[in-house]
Amino acid sequence: MVTQIVSYIAGAVIVIFLLRKLLLRLQLSRAKHRSLTGHSKMARRFASLVPYYEYDERQFFTADAAPAHIAATRRAGFMRLAATFAERYRKTAALTADVMEAVSDLQFTSRYRVPFQFSRFVREHFKVGTFLESSSGVSVTDLDGTRFFDLTGSYGVNLFGYDFYKECIARGSERVKDLGPVLGAYHPVMAENVRRLLEISGLDEVSFHMSGTEAVMQAVRLARYHTRRTHLVRFCGAYHGWWGDVQPGVGNPLPANHTYTLQDMDDAALTVLRNRRDIACVLVNPLQALHPNSAAPGDSTLVDSRRSAHFDRAAYTAWLERLREVCTERNIVLIFDEVFVGFRLARGGAQEYFGVRADMVTYGKSIGGGLPIGVVCGRREVMRRFREDRPADVCFARGTFNSHPYVMGAMAEFLDRLDEEPISTMYRNLDALWDGRAQLVNGMLEHADLPVRIANLSSIWTIAYQRPSRYNWMLQYYLRAEGLALSWVGTGRLIFSLNYTDEDFAAVADRIVAAAMAMQRDGWWWADPQLTNRSIRRSVFKEMIQARSFSPLGSMSSPRSK
Ligand SMILES: Cc1ncc(COP(=O)(O)O)c(C=O)c1O
Repeated sequence: MVTQIVSYIAGAVIVIFLLRKLLLRLQLSRAKHRSLTGHSKMARRFASLVPYYEYDERQFFTADAAPAHIAATRRAGFMRLAATFAERYRKTAALTADVMEAVSDLQFTSRYRVPFQFSRFVREHFKVGTFLESSSGVSVTDLDGTRFFDLTGSYGVNLFGYDFYKECIARGSERVKDLGPVLGAYHPVMAENVRRLLEISGLDEVSFHMSGTEAVMQAVRLARYHTRRTHLVRFCGAYHGWWGDVQPGVGNPLPANHTYTLQDMDDAALTVLRNRRDIACVLVNPLQALHPNSAAPGDSTLVDSRRSAHFDRAAYTAWLERLREVCTERNIVLIFDEVFVGFRLARGGAQEYFGVRADMVTYGKSIGGGLPIGVVCGRREVMRRFREDRPADVCFARGTFNSHPYVMGAMAEFLDRLDEEPISTMYRNLDALWDGRAQLVNGMLEHADLPVRIANLSSIWTIAYQRPSRYNWMLQYYLRAEGLALSWVGTGRLIFSLNYTDEDFAAVADRIVAAAMAMQRDGWWWADPQLTNRSIRRSVFKEMIQARSFSPLGSMSSPRSK
């Protein structure tokens, strides 16, 4: 009898355990974004099935079934632009071509500037150079002496203008030159940086690293160590550097088995945080506020015109507040990854801008004063790398170049100048200024009846397209021809430095409109009224199926055939 009761109880416990597991699994499924970006394993599988094929010259201009006269207008525009590139960027392009075969990064970025079906033809005709000779004010100059307004922002590093960073590096180097490159011991300037970082972050301890990626790695490692839990939560589409655990899915050959990718700004994600016991930390990249649940917008994914972005400060603030509450309730470490937006949104970064405090904050990019850097600031309880009562149970973190004197010197200059003119003025009315500028450009685009609009998070902009089209990525070449320097993701991300004057900006606004007008004139936005984003996707999908079934098919050819 007793044995029977015991086995009933054991059975009930097992059933409850299994039901709970099932419930947690269902909650997790509900908290995933419906897109492929939200399903990393599926995305990797899908990516591995996408076959290579490319358009021949005829298909290149008629991928949307445009009539012959439109194809001819496009071709003429394309060849004119290609001739301009060949003439204007000759030296720069030649050196780029010289090193192309030997530089893996260059091969990758040049291939992925536009959707792959168009890529080879574009590469053959537009020789985009990647060398620059100098920078000054808000411009950069290439080897041919062509001056561009810089909209790359050097991946977000350039916040206050290149001259500012040149000074930080020069004066910072001067400050530390007597010690030189001695590592292990610190230059006293580092103590000043620590003091300022604690004041800015409102946190207790700091660690220095060599890149944003490493800072994020360290923050997550510490969160795991202190909570004794295994998993990190990131939100769908968010970039946190290229370390495997924060980059599940396409791009990472291994599955990230200790990562949950949840839907941003969604209650179902909070339910998962409330109920699971294995979550050590939540990573937030506040840049996602501009396009929640979408990956960084690069032009190579501009298959159609679905790219959209919209920043709602109140809604994102409310979301962060709720996230903060749940993390506190569940002892989950809340990490703001401010490598990109720190110092750009406000002097005190995203914490100040949204009025929500994190347990840890990672900084990088700009804070190095122009030199490579990653920083973690955190509450004392989560920053310690050892346990008082368990001397052998430590959390390891090293890095040869951590706290490099020259980086510390440039950082000290950066931090010193934050509260001085002209920087303190740049922070005043920052949003009003950049929102106003975005509105101005949108007004001009609307007035000229162009199907292009800007969405922005302060000085970080993205271009969205209003009419279904297969050719939106062409705009990046028209913008370059107008003397605007873009990074390899093209129109997906324009990053302004805060030293743009109204006059500089007016010139950029005119050039954006001129580029879009030229593109419109050249027929790229011609569209059959039947064309929709959905029909575009359907036809591309059909091409993929065909390319998988018959390779090569008709005039679509596989890379091996060339
Ligand atoms: C939010 C965020 N975290 C981390 C990183 C990685 O920084 P790094 O490129 O210095 O490794 C980046 C880089 O763009 C970033 O934007």
